[in-house]
Order: sequence, then structure tokens, then C-alpha cells
Amino acid sequence: MPSSIKSRRCSFGLPIGLILVGWAAVQEPAHAADVEKGRRVFQTCASCHQATSETNGFGPYLKGVVGRRAGSAAGFNYSQAMRDAGTGGLIWDEKALAEFLSSPKKKVPGTSMRFFGLWFQSEIDDVIAYLKSNP
Ligand code: HEC
Repeated sequence: MPSSIKSRRCSFGLPIGLILVGWAAVQEPAHAADVEKGRRVFQTCASCHQATSETNGFGPYLKGVVGRRAGSAAGFNYSQAMRDAGTGGLIWDEKALAEFLSSPKKKVPGTSMRFFGLWFQSEIDDVIAYLKSNP
């Protein structure tokens, strides 16, 4: 006789159901980037970043960051990884920012920014719109 085949019991369904409910709740139809919403999203960044003045905190100031070279805020002590990204030509255009904000460590491996990333494209679009409104 072949070795016995153990039957496995599966209990899935509930976790997936919860994820779908959560996902459905945050979906917004036809999203247009919104500076006001972006200002609110930016509160999750504000413990480390200033967007309205050229003042460094735990993170570099983000005033004028859209279009700026990575690692170039005057007076901020960046990680080697961020400095290398800048000298390698990384410019914070909207596409690069969106990639960084969805996963900082994927876009700039070795970055010292301790932030998991934003989950929703709408939040990313809004916070970039807010950053753009602070040139
Ligand atoms: C816990 C602190 C912290 C939080 C929260 C945080 N950041 Fe950062 N951020 C940093 C640090 C530190 C750096 C510098 C990283 C490096 O040198 O590798 C950085 C770098 C950056 C850069 C690159 C800037 C440059 O001059 O090259 C951008 C853009 C940025 N953060 C955006 C954001 C946004 C937008 C949020 C909110 C969604 C956010 N960060 C949340 C700490 C933080």
C-alpha cells in the first residue's frame, strides 16, 4: 500500500472576504488628484518632512521636491543610497515619486526612509499634487 494520504482541512474565505470588503470601501471612482486630500495624506509624512519651508527634520525638506534631483536638499545628511541615486541621475518627477512612495525600499534600495509606502494610488496622486503645489 502507498503511504497514507492525509486529508487537509482548509479554512479560507473569511480573510479574503474581509480584504475585499476593505478594498471596496476605499475605492473611489474616476479619481482626480486633489491637493486638499494630499495635504491630509501628507500628515503621515509631516513627522519627518516639511513641505512648506526649506527646513530639514528627520527627513529632508520636500518644498520644491517635484523635479528636484534625489538627495539634493541642502544641509541634509542623506544615506549613501540616496546620494548615489541622485548622482546616478534620479530626478523626482511624478513617476519616480509615485514609485518611491508606493515602496521606498524598492525604488531606492538602502534608503534610510523608514516608511512602508502608501497603499493606494489615489493617495499617491493626491500627495504628489500637494507637493507640486509647494514649489
Ligand atoms: C519616519 C520618517 C519619515 C516618514 C514618515 C516619511 N519620510 Fe520621506 N524621508 C525620510 C528620510 C530619513 C529620507 C532620506 C532618505 C535617505 O537619505 O535615504 C526621506 C526621503 C524622502 C524623499 C526623497 C527626498 C530627496 O531630497 O531626495 C521623498 C520624496 C520623501 N521622503 C517623501 C516622503 C513622503 C511623501 C512621505 C509621506 C507619504 C514620507 N516621505 C514619509 C523620512 C521619512
